[in-house]
Amino acid sequence: MSTNRTFTMIKPDGVANGHIGAIINDITAAGFKIIALKYTKLTSEKAGEFYAVHSARPFYNDLVSFMSSGPIVAAILEKDNAIEDFRTLIGATNPAEAAKGTIRQKYAKSIDANAVHGSDSDENAQIEGDFFFTADERF
Ligand code: CMP
Repeated sequence: MSTNRTFTMIKPDGVANGHIGAIINDITAAGFKIIALKYTKLTSEKAGEFYAVHSARPFYNDLVSFMSSGPIVAAILEKDNAIEDFRTLIGATNPAEAAKGTIRQKYAKSIDANAVHGSDSDENAQIEGDFFFTADERF
């Protein structure tokens, strides 16, 4: 089952700019089923933990600060080929390079404020989903 799931966050910019509804609509219109959904806010400690894999990167401190700057929406999504199809739906990490019609091309402004996160592997989808959701919160 986990191979058909991915994890996403609508980042603080996507929320602050009023794009929660449009982004969720794009996601469900693309055939993803919502398994879990949560509106929450990360502390800087939690954001640091979530992005620990990037802790050696020069952008880490800015990333942690940005991701804890406002509320986010976290979700587990299900679809055949979920990881790859979701990354296609959201577009390149840098919205300036994102294909036309992708979520980041439509709603993101910069590589930091890039509207959404999408897991890059089945293993990370499992880890990231577990970070936000208990078994009882998945339907
Ligand atoms: P995300 O997919 O959430 O994973 C890590 C985030 O770091 C990425 O999206 C970007 O928003 C942010 N980031 C900032 N600078 C860079 C960079 N140079 N390369 C990759 N990610 C970056």
